[in-house]
Amino acid sequence: MELSDIDLYDLDGWAQRVLHDELALLRREQPIFHHEMPNGRPFWAITKADHIAEISKNPKDFSSWRGGSTLEDYGDEDLFPIRQLMLNMDPPQHSKFRKLVSRGFTPRMVRLMEARIRDDIDEIMHRILPLGETDFVRTVAAELPLRVICRLVGIPDSDFQLIFDWSNRLIGFDDPEFQTSVEDSRIAAMELWQYAQELVDGRGGRRADDLIHVLLNAEVDGEAITEAEFNAFFLLLSVAGNETTRNAISSGLLAMLEHPDQWQRLANDPTLSHSATEEILRWSTPVIYMRRTCTRDLNFHGIDMKEDDKVALFYMSANRDEDRFEDPFRFDITRSPNEHVAFGVGEHFCLGSSLARLEIRLLFEAMAERMTDIECTGEVRRLRSNFIAGIKTLPIRFKAR
Ligand code: HEM
Repeated sequence: MELSDIDLYDLDGWAQRVLHDELALLRREQPIFHHEMPNGRPFWAITKADHIAEISKNPKDFSSWRGGSTLEDYGDEDLFPIRQLMLNMDPPQHSKFRKLVSRGFTPRMVRLMEARIRDDIDEIMHRILPLGETDFVRTVAAELPLRVICRLVGIPDSDFQLIFDWSNRLIGFDDPEFQTSVEDSRIAAMELWQYAQELVDGRGGRRADDLIHVLLNAEVDGEAITEAEFNAFFLLLSVAGNETTRNAISSGLLAMLEHPDQWQRLANDPTLSHSATEEILRWSTPVIYMRRTCTRDLNFHGIDMKEDDKVALFYMSANRDEDRFEDPFRFDITRSPNEHVAFGVGEHFCLGSSLARLEIRLLFEAMAERMTDIECTGEVRRLRSNFIAGIKTLPIRFKAR
């Protein structure tokens, strides 16, 4: 393969496989690579872990706000709603907002969630164990994060399916299976926004520890979150918390099926679940990249970049970086150290990381305890997306322990 053959934007390529060969070639030969983009401005593909950390910790030169988090060339009109999400804010606006919503993600809140997550896992297991076979993505990997987000926010069980459909349509705009147009993604966003508004209007009567209460009552420097800000935050959570965790879980199981010795180790010694969770996150890297935009002409490690240049931070590559990980293509549930960047780095480091880690760990503990002889029985289909590394189907057969 030549550098000129590389197309990291290729949706069909990602639908077939993870483009590890391309990323490895870039790490070796041009870790800051000028990448052409079909129907758009070229971008810089950043593939080394240290470079990604450096850029992520420098929002002054590399903005999340200017162009948003994906590689598309949006105009100001399209950027307006995108910029309402904290993911696409810069300091000082971002720092203030982050301080506010962090109230909903304290260690105490996460501890409170633990019992609920265990109940949800019990229910899911109870449902699938007697079947002996299932589509793991639909009945487990997608189901658990959805339940967790809904419980966190305070959404009634009867509305779970609504949230599920909206979040699929929002993120799946490049995959024809989920929707047919970018327009549908906009409609889904509007519907979700409206739903959030209804939640806010109807507050009261629900638990006092759910996110709606915590956030609407939080204040930083005398300022509270507005209803519009809450709606935007809710929209971000529905996507950020669902798709990502779902794909970490399905890719994690797939990795275990492809490395049965590692699964066996976990089954023999459940105390390995913490380090196994980290390795699952590194291995799966559900967010392939995030974008930044240069705020001025600058020189980055010898490369001249211009104001408004697009920069893509390929976490998928950083997590196989030979300079950070020993034997990075070995799946090792005891790996230590394991300084992966699946949750990003610095300023925008994933707000839900503790919750996601908890979900993955508790689920794999439960599976290792209650399921055995798991095998894949059919086609594993990947999501057609260059942004989310996703698995759409993972049919399995298993025995209950
Ligand atoms: C395995 C699961 C997850 C992965 C891999 C993941 C990954 C990420 C990444 C890469 C970022 C952006 C970092 C950057 O731009 O520098 C991020 C931000 C974010 N994530 Fe997650 N995430 C996961 C689960 C969750 C969950 C469960 C929630 C919520 C309950 C969540 C909420 C957020 C929020 C709100 C942000 C924006 C933070 C900010 O802008 O300051 N994520 N996540």
